[in-house]
Amino acid sequence: MSAFEDVAAVTDLPEGEMLGVTLSDGAPVCVFNHNGTIGAVGNLCTHADFYISDGVMHKDGTLECVWHGARFDCRTGAAKRFPAQKPLPVYAVQVENDRVLVAKAEQSTQST
Ligand code: FES
Repeated sequence: MSAFEDVAAVTDLPEGEMLGVTLSDGAPVCVFNHNGTIGAVGNLCTHADFYISDGVMHKDGTLECVWHGARFDCRTGAAKRFPAQKPLPVYAVQVENDRVLVAKAEQSTQST
């Protein structure tokens, strides 16, 4: 069972927004609100380590890295557009008492 870490207030994440946070073990994580669902993926683009949270969230749930335009599915972490080919790690999220909690360990990755 993963330990969860408090990273932000729910009010810090309006719908359509992303936020870059760092877990206590140093892992960079991008938390986001897609259509009212809060989730989290690794914050380093798998192409060249640009911060995903500095990019754009599209209505279809893809996160675009603004350096070279790679896109990732926010739900699965899967790489959806070149030049990224490897998926982002996905982190489990819980919302408790208006706080966003992120699991300290990566939950899964998916390549498709
Ligand atoms: S660093 Fe993200 S697309 Fe190149």
